[in-house]
Amino acid sequence: MEDKLKKILKDYQNKISSAKSLKELDNIFIALFGKNGQIDQLSQQFSTLSKDELKIIGPLFNQIKHDLEEAVRIKREGVREDIYKSLENEKFTMQPGRLKARKGHMHPLTAFEEQTAKIFNKLGFVQIDAPLIDTDYNNFEVLNIPENHPARDLWDTLYISNKLLLRTHTSNSQIRALSQNKPPIRFMNIGRCFRYENVDARHEHTFEQFEIIYVDKGVSMANLQYLSEYFLKAIFGEDTKARLKPKYYPFVEPGVGVDGLCIFCKGKARLPDGQGCKVCGGIGWLELAGAGMIHPNVLKRGGIDPNEYSGIAWGFGPARMAMIKYAIEDIRLFNSGNLEFLQGRTLTKVRP
Ligand code: FA5
Repeated sequence: MEDKLKKILKDYQNKISSAKSLKELDNIFIALFGKNGQIDQLSQQFSTLSKDELKIIGPLFNQIKHDLEEAVRIKREGVREDIYKSLENEKFTMQPGRLKARKGHMHPLTAFEEQTAKIFNKLGFVQIDAPLIDTDYNNFEVLNIPENHPARDLWDTLYISNKLLLRTHTSNSQIRALSQNKPPIRFMNIGRCFRYENVDARHEHTFEQFEIIYVDKGVSMANLQYLSEYFLKAIFGEDTKARLKPKYYPFVEPGVGVDGLCIFCKGKARLPDGQGCKVCGGIGWLELAGAGMIHPNVLKRGGIDPNEYSGIAWGFGPARMAMIKYAIEDIRLFNSGNLEFLQGRTLTKVRP
């Protein structure tokens, strides 16, 4: 047994020192220490040894096992070092002319949002920020949506703690805009919102919104109608129209849904081939935004006297609008990482 042990030590020390790769060392390690490996097989023979023999073989076995493990470990480090050194000298060679240079560009949604921001900037609106993680108070309570209000179901979100959540809309910017500024106030907030949503072709759990807040003396629904139509014309072309229809949002009074004339059937509810328009469902109009006169309670909470000032708030989803403008069938494409789509190869521009 003693001779066998010494032979294994000698043979494997040679094999280890001449190993050139980590793979080779792995194989040596398995041959030695794996199930039915040399070491395992020897230890199975211990039962045939006398007590006196065991006293000599036991410590020798442990020593040789330890020496071989160490030899493999040290050699592994050496092989790794050699690999790192060879990488240092490696040169990266580009083969000229074989790869076509690809130009970077903005994400289609970012480009659309920039266009929108420019349109409102011309009217004197300035961009402000609001946190994506906000308090329950700023996202709901201050906007007349107290705990247990049924409207919370429409804007269910992900909670970080009892009072901290991922914002469900850019309307969380309202209280900041109102309380930190004096009228006239003309702000816009663009950014990411989150909802506990059943994701489908028109609903994302993470999406962008665009919000306008305008407060001054004598601001009225006429301003809202004008702003809506001005914006839609800038995006879809001069022959578009906007209409306001009653809609409930707890933080505006009156509240409205902003409809745009369907750009596919041009309000006729029928397509040129006589078929009913599938995009607007034969209505002739598409709902594009939510808006209204800022509720007097919200103005008061922002430190603004509703008897002296009035305001409008207006919010829409850029992805939904871009879907209409470019005939995109599925909202999920925006975050898909699909290069065909992102490089615009599958975008069909419906309107100039
Ligand atoms: C709101 O979020 C209100 N804060 C809008 C508002 C602002 C009303 C100011 C009054 C005054 P709503 O939940 O309807 O409203 O969403 C507004 C727009 O966001 C929708 O018209 C749609 O374009 C977009 N949107 C809403 N949910 C999603 C979603 N899951 N995926 C993609 N876009 C969405």
